[in-house]
Amino acid sequence: MSMEKPVSKYALPHIKGLHAYTPGFQPKGDGWVKINTNENPYPPSPMVEEAIRASMGEDLRLYPDPLSWGVREAVARLHELDAKNVIVGNGSDDVLNLLVRAFSTAEEAAGFALPSYSLYPVLCGIQNSSTVEIPFDRAMGLPLDAIVKSGARILFFTSPNAPTGVGFSNDSLRALIGAFDGIVVVDEAYADFAQENAVELLGEFSNLVITRTLSKSYALAGLRVGYGLASPEVIEALDRVRDSYNVNRLSQAGAIAALKDQSYMKAIAGKVARTRDYYYFEFTNLGWFTYQSQANMLFTEPVNSAGERGASVAVELFEYLKERKVLVRYFPGHALTESFLRISVGDEDQMLKLSETIEQWLKNA
Ligand SMILES: Cc1ncc(COP(=O)(O)O)c(C=O)c1O
Repeated sequence: MSMEKPVSKYALPHIKGLHAYTPGFQPKGDGWVKINTNENPYPPSPMVEEAIRASMGEDLRLYPDPLSWGVREAVARLHELDAKNVIVGNGSDDVLNLLVRAFSTAEEAAGFALPSYSLYPVLCGIQNSSTVEIPFDRAMGLPLDAIVKSGARILFFTSPNAPTGVGFSNDSLRALIGAFDGIVVVDEAYADFAQENAVELLGEFSNLVITRTLSKSYALAGLRVGYGLASPEVIEALDRVRDSYNVNRLSQAGAIAALKDQSYMKAIAGKVARTRDYYYFEFTNLGWFTYQSQANMLFTEPVNSAGERGASVAVELFEYLKERKVLVRYFPGHALTESFLRISVGDEDQMLKLSETIEQWLKNA
């Protein structure tokens, strides 16, 4: 016989009001053009599979290296830093979570610009941290003064930004990090598709943290590996709040192999960037306002055959594409996103199918 307990009464009050992060739809079955979650359309380096297979035997009975030390060293070599400047996470989401845990509370707010990566407020909600939202305007330029005056103790700033793909120059980031009284996290999930990145600023600012992921440019979203770069003081703080075995054995082995194969990563990231630039012009030529992207996505404002744009046009195209098994991402409920679609850059076949389906939509409307 089960004993009824008032379980919901036991949950913390702030947990009751939480909304879980809404990931992009993961369709079941074949035949989808899945360009909705900024995954890489190309396979990962063959060295990754080889390294994972080699780690698959008897050693799986042993816990992984709690520090992911081999990955830290590989990352440090790549960025010409010391392993003391590196932390490794179960995806960069894990590193972002550690940052929220270590640097924000109900009194010490976490700030982020809107629109940007929608996980930040979710992580803050779990921790019961207060948040400050700093709005972009349609030009999507850096809202420097508003950020500096926000009173946040830690800022999460995505560059290149998601969902727009807009990148920020090191000169503008330098001004921001210098003026901000707190930790600045530059979330560089998409940096390998961009012209510039902020790694050189680490030597100038002890309050700078950079987060990176192997999910995008390395085509390893399924492996769940990301990392943070920062001063040793920040890394030590993050290590204090980290789960002891936060990255599993196979992921550590695969990540080391992927990080070593830089030429492969650069080749596939370069292909994605070229396809992105081609479709930026395609959308612009259709008369669709599209942000110039430095990431693996395009944020574009569809215009229908009657010359109309807006939320209902974006929703209509989103549904039209979905019915034909082309999956893109739509962000409702915000004036700067609701008339746009975010299209992750796929391979040539996927982008051709997208483009043909858009043509049909324009003809049939
Ligand atoms: C800006 C940004 N940061 C971080 C992530 C998550 O990366 P990971 O797969 O390493 O957790 C994403 C994923 O979409 C992202 O868009």
